[in-house]
Amino acid sequence: MTAEELRQKLAFYRDLGIEEIYRRPVTAVPSPAEKPLVEKASVIDTITSPAIPAAPAVLPQESEIISPTTVNPAVFQPAPEVPSLPREIAPPVSVQKPQEIVAVVPEGSPVGTPKPSFELPPLHPAGDSMLQIRQDIGEDCRRCRLCEGRTNLVFGSGNEKSPLVFVGEGPGADEDEQGLPFVGRAGQLLTQMINNTTEKEGIPIKRDDVYICNVVKCRPPDNRAPQPDEMEICGQFLSRQLSVIQPKAIVTLGATASKALLNMKEGITKARGKWHKWQDVPVMVTYHPSYLLRNQSKELRREVWEDLKAVFHFVYDK
Ligand code: URA
Repeated sequence: MTAEELRQKLAFYRDLGIEEIYRRPVTAVPSPAEKPLVEKASVIDTITSPAIPAAPAVLPQESEIISPTTVNPAVFQPAPEVPSLPREIAPPVSVQKPQEIVAVVPEGSPVGTPKPSFELPPLHPAGDSMLQIRQDIGEDCRRCRLCEGRTNLVFGSGNEKSPLVFVGEGPGADEDEQGLPFVGRAGQLLTQMINNTTEKEGIPIKRDDVYICNVVKCRPPDNRAPQPDEMEICGQFLSRQLSVIQPKAIVTLGATASKALLNMKEGITKARGKWHKWQDVPVMVTYHPSYLLRNQSKELRREVWEDLKAVFHFVYDK
């Protein structure tokens, strides 16, 4: 390949919004330098309602919902075709169609006829249910490398018929140990964020009344962010969970979950506080509670408070 051809391919990826090209096989172990920030705060600072004037409930108007590219094709829809790449440059996101993912080519397979080591169930099977999704994931899911460090798979918790779903990034150590989402420090802050907002706003809803889950169901090692292929594989189960629940609104917590669910070009700071769309469902993007634990800024908390207030009124006001 000439330098010019390579330059054109890299420009193609930049146009897709892919800024980093991985030069190693997907099974590579991330170096310590790649680890994301770990929650550092030692104390959970109770989130309290900032002293702001009560605003009337603002429901998202159709024109306020950012909709043109609602679903991240890399995660939930067949991805666009990509020209063949030089052998040493693998795309950061698998471009295979969801049902055709080939994780391992069994030894001895004739070249050109790789056999999938597993098959994902249909993306949205008829008569789907949460039980069916859980069964399809299986007791010992080994579809991606996250299974290697997992103690418990974290499917989700709360009211499966809730009109409101919170989506996080992936389980941490406490969640992995208990098999439940958002039970560690970030989870306790999320509980406070939900319960304090609803209480102050006079909405009779508690954390247990909403549904909470993550993009990936198994803990990424060292609390690193899930990698694109891990999100692509597990994202199909999230997509099915959301399709079964059919919530009135979704809250994505943090940049990773927001980018996984939405075709979001902008960063979290710009995207938060606005209504986006996943399929036809309004999605509010807000900060991840871990970010609030790391950054004790009152302004950030006020912003999350505003985001949740808008969501709860939109979902629960008669
Ligand atoms: N962070 C997440 O994104 N999800 C959890 O379940 C816990 C922490």
